[in-house]
Amino acid sequence: MDKNISLEDLPGVGSTTAEKLTEAGFSSIEAIAVASPADLASAAEIGESTATKIISAARQAAEVGGFETGDVVLERRKQVGKLTTGSVALNELLGGGVETQAITEFYGAFGSGKTQAAHQLAVNVQVPKKDGGLGGSAVIIDTENTFRPERIKQMAEALGLNHEEILKNIHVARAYNSNHQMLLVDRAFELAEKLKDSKKPVRLIIVDSLTAHFRAEYVGRGTLADRQQKLNRYLHDIMRFGDLYNAAVVVTNQVMSKPDAFFGDPTRPIGGHILGHTATFRIYLRKSKGEKRIARLVDSPSLPEGEAVFSVTTEGVRD
Ligand code: GTP
Ligand code: MG
Repeated sequence: MDKNISLEDLPGVGSTTAEKLTEAGFSSIEAIAVASPADLASAAEIGESTATKIISAARQAAEVGGFETGDVVLERRKQVGKLTTGSVALNELLGGGVETQAITEFYGAFGSGKTQAAHQLAVNVQVPKKDGGLGGSAVIIDTENTFRPERIKQMAEALGLNHEEILKNIHVARAYNSNHQMLLVDRAFELAEKLKDSKKPVRLIIVDSLTAHFRAEYVGRGTLADRQQKLNRYLHDIMRFGDLYNAAVVVTNQVMSKPDAFFGDPTRPIGGHILGHTATFRIYLRKSKGEKRIARLVDSPSLPEGEAVFSVTTEGVRD
């Protein structure tokens, strides 16, 4: 994409509209390219038909969202990388590791190891390909304030890495609510664009937790459809991030461990069907004895269902 293009270069966007869009978080061409006409219209106080024109111009400029020919898709698929989790068994369950250009969802009860796995991946992504990494940097959208640099330090040192270097290549943003969480994806696009040609391009985006804010904010049956719709759009946005930057997309999702719900399967992740269809790999984590954790691959279209046992140790994720 042409880096010199600014919002005001889009047809129908003057300085006032550009300002309103930026304030509402639509500050990059990519963010506009993936927006819905209704959202853009209300953010910039413009008509929906104008919004539609702006979006389609942004899509052309960003080269996203349109049709592609099969050879282009094939070329992109050839770039798919696999990121080691730190556990051989867990890697095997995933068909070699956490894939780029795909969403991997870790879901499970509190303490099942979702955040630990996320921390480990943020370290591992930085090591060279020959060592199971992707030679890139990580972006973490932290919704529960559970990012711990001290833990990264432990994990990095366990691998003989310089923890200060490792921490410098982990870009963390705290999301205060679901809207903020959505805006941070736009920021991630900007950051990835900036780092695209650097030594450490973004190769991993983590949203930990994907669903906590949505669950807290959208309570009651009447709001369910709205929540699903927002989550769905969110997932499409981060999926596009994965495609555009050949990055692994990792999201976490808490489920209750005790069957205290009166209907439905209490271990079904929130986000239900929509997440089920979007997440390419879904890993259900549960606690076992001590440091042991059991991972189960669920509903994968391309891999056999199965389980793997791994450990969360002081050094990090291991077999
Ligand atoms: P929620 O976010 O609450 O849903 O849980 P989670 O699935 O993200 O759990 P998390 O990944 O935070 O796992 C926490 C667990 O990891 C702890 O209960 C410990 O069992 C383990 N853990 C965390 N840090 C260490 C450590 O330094 N050493 C060891 N051995 N285990 C650790
Ligand atoms: Mg957690």
